[in-house]
Amino acid sequence: MLDIQKIRADFPILSQTVNGKPLVYFDNGATSQKPQIVLDAIEKYYQEINANIHRGVHTLSQLATDAYEVSRGKVQQHINAKFAHEVLFNSGTTHGINLVTNGFASILKPGDEVLVSSLEHHSNIVPWQMLCEKTGAVLKVIPMNEGGELIMDAYDALLSEKTKIVTVNHISNALGVINPIKYIIEKAHAVGAAVLIDGAQAVPHLKPDVQDLDCDFYVFSGHKMCGPTGTGILYGKEAWLNKLPPYQGGGEMIKEVTFEKTTYADLPHKFEAGTPNIAGGIVLGTAIDYLNQIGFDNIQKHEKELLEHATKRLLEIEGLRIYGTGKNKASVVSFNIDGIHPYDIGSIIDKLGIAVRTGHHCAQPIMNFFCIPGTVRASFSFYNTKEEIDLMVEAVKKAKTMLS
Ligand code: ALA
Repeated sequence: MLDIQKIRADFPILSQTVNGKPLVYFDNGATSQKPQIVLDAIEKYYQEINANIHRGVHTLSQLATDAYEVSRGKVQQHINAKFAHEVLFNSGTTHGINLVTNGFASILKPGDEVLVSSLEHHSNIVPWQMLCEKTGAVLKVIPMNEGGELIMDAYDALLSEKTKIVTVNHISNALGVINPIKYIIEKAHAVGAAVLIDGAQAVPHLKPDVQDLDCDFYVFSGHKMCGPTGTGILYGKEAWLNKLPPYQGGGEMIKEVTFEKTTYADLPHKFEAGTPNIAGGIVLGTAIDYLNQIGFDNIQKHEKELLEHATKRLLEIEGLRIYGTGKNKASVVSFNIDGIHPYDIGSIIDKLGIAVRTGHHCAQPIMNFFCIPGTVRASFSFYNTKEEIDLMVEAVKKAKTMLS
């Protein structure tokens, strides 16, 4: 069993008051809070080893380079990538997806098909639309049912030899639904298509095993898993990363430059032009160590209890509907109350210290499917408690009374 009070003491921000009330932070899907060990590691980096990496022979530069590469190794181990050079640092999930879509611009031909799911965040829709506009490829959408689950029969029917890449999130940010990605990957590979998994909402809750999944690309952000903002990872299979052209040109991604021709560096440097977020990359390793020390089995067990408690308690409220009712869900509850705008609920409960996200959650097609402007989304982390959920339920009841 996790000692939640001990864990909460690791997060200074959680003992704050907001609007005169103790902070109840349920916007973990947007970004997680950071433990003291992560904050200390950022300070320590700048106080003790700040230097540019992969460049200098001087001691600090080597220390910074070593720390950065150690962190890459930690990510490799964490996601079980075969090689460290399959792990690319970048600024976040959006960056990772755009790197891949940029690369596919040189692969796709008019009439090729890209399959996205109806559960995607805009960051896993718009770059693919831009790619299709550029190449003449066609975007097809895997539909979902009323429970917010992707319809696998329809997916099977959409797949063909025209499908070149399938892109789907591991867990939906708006609804919390966990997608059957192993099945999706297997079926895509059977028609020769590549698969990108957007793991942004998965990595705070589970440890992905990219070799077991056999995905071609797996992207995620560091800031949702206790790491700093501006950090992210793109995992790509070596063969794919060798095949794709570089995303950005610049320093560090080259072997040799002349005015006639430039040759590119080996992986991972080919995709890491310019000075990266060095502190962020190093400290992402610290965040991963922290999460592993708590243990993902423990995290999942606790978060499952939070999800069950929140679902049960919220459904006590008359007129409240939860969106995303499938069996496989992460600790996210997205809801509305009949006749009340989600923004109004969010604003009132904020006055009571409760932080939730309201709106379309950068997933407008999902909102269009349900014919709603948005939802109230409470997304829980391992440091949240059932008592906090009870506070939210009371606050939502109060908001309902005020707004009805
Ligand atoms: N993608 C983040 C969210 O779902 C920002 O809130």
